[in-house]
Amino acid sequence: MENNIYPIFSKMQSRREKEAFLGQRGLTLWFTGLSGSGKSTVAVALEKALSEKGIFCRIIDGDNVRCGLNAGLGFSPQDRKENIRRVAEVCRLFTQTGIVTLATFISPTRELRDMARDIIGAEDFMEIFVSTPIEECEKRDVKGLYAKARRGEIKEFTGISAPFEAPEAPDVDTDTSRLSVEECVDRILDAAFPRIRL
Ligand code: ADX
Repeated sequence: MENNIYPIFSKMQSRREKEAFLGQRGLTLWFTGLSGSGKSTVAVALEKALSEKGIFCRIIDGDNVRCGLNAGLGFSPQDRKENIRRVAEVCRLFTQTGIVTLATFISPTRELRDMARDIIGAEDFMEIFVSTPIEECEKRDVKGLYAKARRGEIKEFTGISAPFEAPEAPDVDTDTSRLSVEECVDRILDAAFPRIRL
Protein backbone atom coordinates (compact mmCIF):
# COMPACT_ATOMS: atom_id res chain seq x y z
CA MET A 1 0.00 0.00 0.00
CA GLU A 2 1.22 3.47 -0.88
CA ASN A 3 2.67 5.37 2.14
CA ASN A 4 1.83 2.47 4.48
CA ILE A 5 -1.79 3.63 4.76
CA TYR A 6 -4.44 0.91 5.00
CA PRO A 7 -8.03 2.21 4.74
CA ILE A 8 -10.62 0.07 6.52
CA PHE A 9 -13.57 0.76 4.20
CA SER A 10 -14.56 -2.87 3.78
CA LYS A 11 -15.22 -3.25 7.52
CA MET A 12 -17.31 -0.08 7.80
CA GLN A 13 -21.09 0.06 7.47
CA SER A 14 -21.99 0.88 3.88
CA ARG A 15 -23.62 4.06 2.70
CA ARG A 16 -26.74 2.07 1.76
CA GLU A 17 -26.99 0.77 5.33
CA LYS A 18 -26.69 4.33 6.67
CA GLU A 19 -29.32 5.57 4.24
CA ALA A 20 -31.70 2.74 5.15
CA PHE A 21 -31.17 3.62 8.83
CA LEU A 22 -32.04 7.28 8.18
CA GLY A 23 -34.76 6.53 5.59
CA GLN A 24 -33.34 9.03 3.08
CA ARG A 25 -30.64 9.47 0.46
CA GLY A 26 -27.57 11.61 1.06
CA LEU A 27 -27.22 14.67 -1.16
CA THR A 28 -25.22 17.92 -1.11
CA LEU A 29 -27.09 21.09 -1.97
CA TRP A 30 -24.29 23.48 -2.92
CA PHE A 31 -25.35 27.13 -2.56
CA THR A 32 -23.28 29.66 -4.50
CA GLY A 33 -23.81 33.43 -4.65
CA LEU A 34 -22.43 36.76 -3.53
CA SER A 35 -21.93 37.76 0.08
CA GLY A 36 -25.29 38.97 1.34
CA SER A 37 -27.24 37.23 -1.44
CA GLY A 38 -29.24 35.18 1.07
CA LYS A 39 -27.51 31.78 0.86
CA SER A 40 -27.49 31.19 4.62
CA THR A 41 -31.01 32.59 5.14
CA VAL A 42 -32.47 30.29 2.48
CA ALA A 43 -30.45 27.32 3.76
CA VAL A 44 -31.71 27.84 7.32
CA ALA A 45 -35.33 27.98 6.09
CA LEU A 46 -34.73 24.93 3.89
CA GLU A 47 -33.23 23.00 6.81
CA LYS A 48 -36.41 23.68 8.79
CA ALA A 49 -38.67 22.65 5.90
CA LEU A 50 -36.70 19.44 5.32
CA SER A 51 -36.68 18.63 9.03
CA GLU A 52 -40.46 18.99 9.09
CA LYS A 53 -40.57 16.35 6.36
CA GLY A 54 -38.45 14.05 8.52
CA ILE A 55 -35.20 14.65 6.63
CA PHE A 56 -31.97 14.80 8.62
CA CYS A 57 -29.73 17.67 7.40
CA ARG A 58 -26.65 19.64 8.22
CA ILE A 59 -25.67 23.17 7.18
CA ILE A 60 -21.99 23.85 6.50
CA ASP A 61 -21.54 27.61 6.20
CA GLY A 62 -18.59 29.74 5.09
CA ASP A 63 -18.51 32.17 7.99
CA ASN A 64 -18.83 29.29 10.51
CA VAL A 65 -16.19 27.04 8.95
CA ARG A 66 -13.79 29.95 8.68
CA CYS A 67 -13.92 30.24 12.49
CA GLY A 68 -12.94 26.59 12.99
CA LEU A 69 -11.77 24.01 10.44
CA ASN A 70 -10.60 26.75 8.06
CA ALA A 71 -9.46 29.40 10.54
CA GLY A 72 -6.34 30.94 9.09
CA LEU A 73 -7.46 30.82 5.47
CA GLY A 74 -8.05 34.17 3.77
CA PHE A 75 -9.56 35.23 0.45
CA SER A 76 -6.69 34.94 -2.02
CA PRO A 77 -7.51 32.60 -4.93
CA GLN A 78 -5.29 29.91 -3.36
CA ASP A 79 -6.94 30.19 0.07
CA ARG A 80 -10.45 30.13 -1.40
CA LYS A 81 -9.46 26.98 -3.29
CA GLU A 82 -8.19 25.28 -0.13
CA ASN A 83 -11.34 26.44 1.72
CA ILE A 84 -13.59 24.85 -0.90
CA ARG A 85 -11.44 21.70 -1.23
CA ARG A 86 -11.66 21.00 2.50
CA VAL A 87 -15.36 21.74 2.84
CA ALA A 88 -16.15 19.64 -0.22
CA GLU A 89 -14.33 16.72 1.45
CA VAL A 90 -16.46 17.32 4.55
CA CYS A 91 -19.63 17.43 2.41
CA ARG A 92 -18.59 14.14 0.84
CA LEU A 93 -18.26 12.50 4.26
CA PHE A 94 -21.67 13.79 5.38
CA THR A 95 -23.36 12.88 2.09
CA GLN A 96 -21.92 9.38 2.17
CA THR A 97 -23.35 9.05 5.68
CA GLY A 98 -26.80 9.67 4.17
CA ILE A 99 -27.11 13.22 5.46
CA VAL A 100 -28.60 16.01 3.36
CA THR A 101 -25.84 18.58 3.42
CA LEU A 102 -26.48 22.26 2.74
CA ALA A 103 -23.17 23.96 1.86
CA THR A 104 -23.26 27.77 1.73
CA PHE A 105 -20.08 29.21 0.25
CA ILE A 106 -19.58 32.08 -2.18
CA SER A 107 -17.45 29.66 -4.24
CA PRO A 108 -17.00 32.42 -6.80
CA THR A 109 -15.56 30.60 -9.81
CA ARG A 110 -16.64 27.74 -12.03
CA GLU A 111 -13.29 26.08 -11.33
CA LEU A 112 -14.02 26.02 -7.59
CA ARG A 113 -17.55 24.69 -8.02
CA ASP A 114 -16.37 22.07 -10.51
CA MET A 115 -13.74 20.97 -7.99
CA ALA A 116 -16.44 20.64 -5.30
CA ARG A 117 -18.63 18.65 -7.70
CA ASP A 118 -15.72 16.34 -8.57
CA ILE A 119 -14.87 15.71 -4.91
CA ILE A 120 -18.47 15.12 -3.82
CA GLY A 121 -19.53 13.24 -6.98
CA ALA A 122 -21.85 14.67 -9.63
CA GLU A 123 -24.68 12.26 -8.71
CA ASP A 124 -24.62 13.57 -5.11
CA PHE A 125 -24.35 17.28 -5.97
CA MET A 126 -26.99 19.89 -6.76
CA GLU A 127 -26.00 23.46 -7.57
CA ILE A 128 -28.24 26.16 -6.13
CA PHE A 129 -27.47 29.64 -7.45
CA VAL A 130 -28.69 32.41 -5.17
CA SER A 131 -28.63 34.98 -7.95
CA THR A 132 -29.53 38.13 -6.00
CA PRO A 133 -27.86 40.99 -7.95
CA ILE A 134 -24.90 42.80 -6.44
CA GLU A 135 -26.83 46.10 -6.29
CA GLU A 136 -29.30 44.46 -3.91
CA CYS A 137 -26.59 42.72 -1.85
CA GLU A 138 -24.75 46.03 -1.52
CA LYS A 139 -27.95 47.89 -0.62
CA ARG A 140 -28.68 45.37 2.14
CA ASP A 141 -25.05 45.23 3.32
CA VAL A 142 -26.11 43.33 6.44
CA LYS A 143 -22.51 42.84 7.61
CA GLY A 144 -21.27 46.28 6.47
CA LEU A 145 -18.62 44.58 4.31
CA TYR A 146 -19.54 46.20 0.98
CA ALA A 147 -19.06 49.65 2.52
CA LYS A 148 -15.66 48.56 3.87
CA ALA A 149 -14.70 47.05 0.50
CA ARG A 150 -15.69 50.29 -1.30
CA ARG A 151 -13.49 52.23 1.14
CA GLY A 152 -10.63 49.85 0.29
CA GLU A 153 -10.57 48.39 3.82
CA ILE A 154 -11.14 44.82 2.57
CA LYS A 155 -9.00 43.56 -0.27
CA GLU A 156 -10.15 40.98 -2.85
CA PHE A 157 -13.82 41.38 -1.93
CA THR A 158 -16.06 39.27 -4.16
CA GLY A 159 -18.05 41.37 -6.62
CA ILE A 160 -16.05 44.54 -5.89
CA SER A 161 -12.37 43.71 -6.22
CA ALA A 162 -12.47 39.95 -6.85
CA PRO A 163 -14.46 38.05 -9.48
CA PHE A 164 -17.77 36.24 -9.26
CA GLU A 165 -18.68 34.00 -12.21
CA ALA A 166 -22.35 33.08 -12.37
CA PRO A 167 -23.02 29.36 -12.85
CA GLU A 168 -24.00 28.50 -16.43
CA ALA A 169 -26.51 25.76 -15.71
CA PRO A 170 -27.46 25.66 -12.03
CA ASP A 171 -30.02 23.04 -10.96
CA VAL A 172 -31.99 25.80 -9.24
CA ASP A 173 -31.79 29.59 -9.59
CA THR A 174 -33.28 31.69 -6.80
CA ASP A 175 -33.07 35.47 -6.60
CA THR A 176 -34.05 36.67 -3.12
CA SER A 177 -34.75 40.17 -4.45
CA ARG A 178 -37.62 38.76 -6.57
CA LEU A 179 -38.76 35.75 -4.53
CA SER A 180 -39.64 35.40 -0.86
CA VAL A 181 -37.55 33.01 1.22
CA GLU A 182 -40.52 30.60 1.23
CA GLU A 183 -40.68 30.68 -2.57
CA CYS A 184 -36.95 29.98 -2.80
CA VAL A 185 -37.34 27.04 -0.41
CA ASP A 186 -40.28 25.65 -2.42
CA ARG A 187 -38.27 25.77 -5.65
CA ILE A 188 -35.35 23.95 -4.08
CA LEU A 189 -37.62 21.37 -2.44
CA ASP A 190 -39.32 20.65 -5.79
CA ALA A 191 -35.96 19.92 -7.38
CA ALA A 192 -34.25 18.17 -4.47
CA PHE A 193 -36.90 16.15 -2.69
CA PRO A 194 -37.23 13.41 -5.35
CA ARG A 195 -33.45 12.82 -5.01
CA ILE A 196 -33.61 12.64 -1.21
CA ARG A 197 -36.67 10.44 -0.73
CA LEU A 198 -35.83 6.72 -0.48
S1 ADX B 1 -15.30 31.61 -0.53
O1 ADX B 1 -15.04 32.60 -1.60
O2 ADX B 1 -14.05 31.00 -0.03
O3 ADX B 1 -16.29 30.58 -0.95
P1 ADX B 1 -16.76 31.90 1.95
O4 ADX B 1 -18.15 31.60 1.56
O5 ADX B 1 -15.98 30.81 2.64
O6 ADX B 1 -15.94 32.45 0.66
O7 ADX B 1 -16.74 33.16 2.94
C1 ADX B 1 -17.44 34.31 2.58
C2 ADX B 1 -17.76 35.19 3.77
O8 ADX B 1 -16.56 35.72 4.32
C3 ADX B 1 -18.59 36.38 3.36
O9 ADX B 1 -19.97 36.15 3.51
C4 ADX B 1 -18.10 37.50 4.27
O10 ADX B 1 -18.85 37.49 5.46
C5 ADX B 1 -16.69 37.11 4.61
N1 ADX B 1 -15.63 37.83 3.88
C6 ADX B 1 -14.58 38.45 4.47
N2 ADX B 1 -13.72 38.92 3.56
C7 ADX B 1 -14.22 38.61 2.33
C8 ADX B 1 -13.77 38.83 1.00
N3 ADX B 1 -12.61 39.47 0.73
N4 ADX B 1 -14.54 38.38 -0.04
C9 ADX B 1 -15.69 37.75 0.23
N5 ADX B 1 -16.18 37.50 1.48
C10 ADX B 1 -15.44 37.91 2.53
